[in-house]
Amino acid sequence: MQNIEDISKNLLSQIADSDTPREILKVSELRQLYGVIKTLPAEERADYGKRINELKLTLESAIKSKESDLENATVEYLDVTAPWDVNTQPLKLLPTEMGSQHPLTREIENVIDIFTRMGFEAIESRQIDDDHHMFGTLNFPENHPARDGYDTFRTEEGYISPAHTSTMQNRILQDGKAKLESGGQIGVVAIGRCFRNEDIDATHEHTFYQYEGIFVNETATLGQMLGTLRSFFETYYNQSLKIRTQPSYFPFVEPGLEFAIEKPAEVGKDLLAGEEWLEMLGCGMIHPNVLTAAGIDPKKYRGFAWGGGIERLTMLKYGIEDIRYFESGKLQFLRKFV
Ligand code: FA5
Repeated sequence: MQNIEDISKNLLSQIADSDTPREILKVSELRQLYGVIKTLPAEERADYGKRINELKLTLESAIKSKESDLENATVEYLDVTAPWDVNTQPLKLLPTEMGSQHPLTREIENVIDIFTRMGFEAIESRQIDDDHHMFGTLNFPENHPARDGYDTFRTEEGYISPAHTSTMQNRILQDGKAKLESGGQIGVVAIGRCFRNEDIDATHEHTFYQYEGIFVNETATLGQMLGTLRSFFETYYNQSLKIRTQPSYFPFVEPGLEFAIEKPAEVGKDLLAGEEWLEMLGCGMIHPNVLTAAGIDPKKYRGFAWGGGIERLTMLKYGIEDIRYFESGKLQFLRKFV
């Protein structure tokens, strides 16, 4: 009987300290106590059984009350707008089994993985930038109408929320200049959030992710760019794909292209859907003025660049019909990717 008292005390204190109190009951000594019943003399069994049942009810009610405390605490701690107060309790993390990786995080990791295996270095793009990197270094002349093609958000001080990851090009080129001059090459993928003052619909968000690639050496060709991109898409969708390009205009590349693939089969579906061409990204040979703006001699070095949307990649992979699900926080959607 003493044993039951000890076990009860021990389990109650474990429940009080746990973020997942129900788990404790599943693996507790309580189970063993039930097993003891049949080893007892007949006259002791009824009393012993009754005490174990009482213990179980006590534990059950302690678990319920702890779960409700945790739920209330979570709501309270999630108020990120609350002013900091030195008396605030330390932050309690949600039990890990209640969360999962966001599908975009997972796909960003996939994209990084593929490009780093090809030899590219991966970096994160900035979320606030200036006119010089958004337009100036990318060969957009002052007052040029091409600037209007990007509906940028600006702060009152004149800073810009980047409308594309190409804002990183000048920095990547400047950082890689020394490497080029010592006989090496630049190969970088910049991934990050972009922001546009768009009319939102099933394929356009105001906030989305892009992956930008830059490669420069003395001999880079358009053919190498198409080979790199084909190889990326075929690895990402794990199937062979037809590709197509058509001319397009971006001030920072010459020639500029839109790169399309034939619709890939979704994950879990066998047949190649085909028949439809889907524009995946913009790309081209880096414009000599962009190299010059970074102090790189365009007569000696040449390169290619591309920029595409991560949401579009993911939507095609899993057959997601509306881009707005990604930022919606809808659990029904997120649970599909657990
Ligand atoms: C650009 O942003 C160029 N910077 C791409 C580039 C880079 C060209 C380097 C040449 C060299 P564009 O505006 O087409 O291009 O956007 C590229 C991709 O970003 C689109 O194909 C699409 O996948 C994604 N994207 C653009 N706007 C949105 C949006 N509002 N919502 C979701 N994805 C978007």
